[in-house]
Amino acid sequence: MSSPHPAPDRDDGLIARYAFARRVALAAAARGMAYYARRNSLAVQHKGDDLQDVVSIADQDVEAFIRAELAAHFPEDGIVGEEGGSAGLQARCIWVIDPIDGTACFLNGLHNWCVSIGLLVDGQPLLGAIADPNHDELFHGFIGHGAFVNDTPLAAHGAGNVREGLVGVGTTHRAGKENFLPFIGALLEQGGMFLRNGSGALMTAYVAAGRLIGYYETHLKSWDCLAGLVLVREAGARHNEFLRGDGLLGGNPYLVAAPGVYEQLAAMVGPSLDAD
Ligand code: IPD
Ligand code: CA
Ligand code: CA
Repeated sequence: MSSPHPAPDRDDGLIARYAFARRVALAAAARGMAYYARRNSLAVQHKGDDLQDVVSIADQDVEAFIRAELAAHFPEDGIVGEEGGSAGLQARCIWVIDPIDGTACFLNGLHNWCVSIGLLVDGQPLLGAIADPNHDELFHGFIGHGAFVNDTPLAAHGAGNVREGLVGVGTTHRAGKENFLPFIGALLEQGGMFLRNGSGALMTAYVAAGRLIGYYETHLKSWDCLAGLVLVREAGARHNEFLRGDGLLGGNPYLVAAPGVYEQLAAMVGPSLDAD
C-alpha cells in the first residue's frame, strides 16, 4: 500500500510541492471557515449577467492567501486561479486553484464547499489537495503514490452498471447546458439516479472515494477539477480528455466515473463529451 506521505526521495521539488499543497489547502480552508461563520454579512457580487454566478470577499481573500504562499515558496511556478486569472504559463509547474469551490453553497449556508489546489507538471496533473473543513476531510493524491482522504486510501466503486449507485451531475448556464436534461433522461431510463451537491471538486473526490459511481458536468473549468483528476487517476477511476484544446483556460465538458460504468455514462452523454 502506498504511504499518504511519500518520502522526499526526489530532488526536483515535487514532493515538497505536495506537502505545500496539503498544508496550504488546510490553511486556506480554515480561512474560508472564518468567513463562513459570518457569511450573512458578506457582500455578494455577480459575475456578468448570470445571477447564479456569485462571488464574495471570501473567494477573493482566500485566493490572495494562496497566491501569497505560492509567491513566497515557489515564485518560479505558474498559476491559473478562478478569481485572479493566469500567469507564468510557460513554467514547468502550473498551480490550478479554486479558493472556494461551491460558492453558492457557501453563501447559502450549505456545507458543500472546499478549497481545491492542483498542480500540472509538464502539462499533466501530478498532485492535488482538496480540503473540506466542514467534514474534516482532506483529499489528496500524487501520481504514482496513491490518493487518500486524510490517511485512508481511495478506491473507485466496483459498479458494473449505473443501477448500482449514485451519479453526481452539474451544469451552469454556459454553453452545453442543453446536454443536461438528455443525460438525466438517459440515466433515469437505464435505472440510475443523480445527485448535485454544488461542488464539482467534491463530487470528483467522491468518485475517487467510491461514494459516487460517476460525475458528469456539462461544462467545467480546470480549477474545479484539476486536483480531483489526480485523485481519480490514482483511485482507479476514469476521466474524459478534459484538458484537450483550451481546457486549461476555457474548460470543457467533464466526465469521471468508476471503470465499470464509464463507457455506459459516456454513451449517455454522447458526442458532445469529447467534441472540439
Ligand atoms: C462551481 C461548482 C458547481 C459547478 C459549477 C462550478 P464555484 O464552482 O463546482 O458544482 O456546477 O460548474 O462553477 O463557482 O462554486 O467555484
Ligand atoms: Ca469552482
Ligand atoms: Ca470558486
